[in-house]
Amino acid sequence: MDQINVKVSTPNLHAAVPYVASDNRYSKMIYRRCGRSGILMPAISLGLWHNFGSVDVFDNFEKIAYAAFDNGITHFDLANNYGPVPGSAEENFGRILKRGLGAYRDELIITTKAGYDMWPGPYGEWGSRKYLMASLNQSLKRMGLEYVDIFYSHRPDPNTPLEETMGALADIVRQGKALYVGISNYDAEQTKRAVPILKEHKVPCLVHQSRYSMADRSVEPELLPLLKEEGVGMVAFSPLAQGLLTNKYLHGVPENSRAAKSSGFLQKSTITPELVAKISKLNDLAIGRGQTLAEMALAWLLRDQRVTSVIVGASSVAQLMDNLKALDHLDFSDEELMLIESLLNA
Ligand SMILES: NC(=O)c1ccc[n+]([C@@H]2O[C@H](COP(=O)([O-])OP(=O)(O)OC[C@H]3O[C@@H](n4cnc5c(N)ncnc54)[C@H](OP(=O)(O)O)[C@@H]3O)[C@@H](O)[C@H]2O)c1
Repeated sequence: MDQINVKVSTPNLHAAVPYVASDNRYSKMIYRRCGRSGILMPAISLGLWHNFGSVDVFDNFEKIAYAAFDNGITHFDLANNYGPVPGSAEENFGRILKRGLGAYRDELIITTKAGYDMWPGPYGEWGSRKYLMASLNQSLKRMGLEYVDIFYSHRPDPNTPLEETMGALADIVRQGKALYVGISNYDAEQTKRAVPILKEHKVPCLVHQSRYSMADRSVEPELLPLLKEEGVGMVAFSPLAQGLLTNKYLHGVPENSRAAKSSGFLQKSTITPELVAKISKLNDLAIGRGQTLAEMALAWLLRDQRVTSVIVGASSVAQLMDNLKALDHLDFSDEELMLIESLLNA
């Protein structure tokens, strides 16, 4: 990661009126069953990878979190390392919970993960029992929670026996520190091995979290059918390809966009004229459907019932509200789907 300009945001701890959720919060959201489980997830979830760190503005992301819940987004996705700085997204979410959202704890699915580099030394990353247990304890402390709803192994570890990683996940559930567990970034082969190990422990794999968007369809041939067969839910991350599948980069790289920031993972160099030309054609198609490109990109994923939820990121309430509008028009004609297919394969 490049140099980070750390501008620590301080919450307005003297806000006079505590947050009270909208009475209409369940009127519009679509909920989908997560695999073969008892859990329903909102079709659109909110991710806190970017925009909720200590470099971001507390008032802004607090409003995003409240707008999400007011509109039926019950699922908030975190990880130990989200920030920057790592850990700060969990700390900030903990503050938001304390300042009002936590009153609705039983209406929330809060997830966290461990897998990537978090602290120095040999026990601060990957998939050992030592790391997973310690990391979840730290996450719970940062968020001020007794349990998370879902705890994920964030990435497969080639050097730790899968039995150890899955065994640790199962024990975490038995300890009551997570209600369910999931895996993320495991390919189809790794998933095929991990799911039965969890089954043996009588702690089913609730959900798989993987990158899936019009820009990255690698889950389609093997992973999606496998998850369906195994009764494991599928949540798609970066469904807008970090903002590429929106209208924001059609006329250059706006200041303050993820691609312009030194702390992000989206590189300016990714945005080539060829890519912009393709996005522009998709944008025209979206306009023809009466949608923004962001709305169409989300609807395109959600038209597949195997996708339980798409986890969007948002740097403003306006973006979140735009993304929620995807739910108004999820169906596609055969002609539209063929056109999209040909644009994506061009
Ligand atoms: N398991 C994993 O390994 C993993 C990896 C990555 C992500 N995730 C999860 O998935 C979540 C979402 O990932 P992501 O942030 O990459 O998702 P994304 O939805 O593909 O991208 C979010 C970014 O797109 C732009 N955007 C969003 N809505 C927009 C709209 N309506 N119009 C214009 N621009 C819009 C914003 O960019 P600007 O900031 O430029 O405004 C926003 O920050 C993460 O927060 C995390 O919870 C998980």
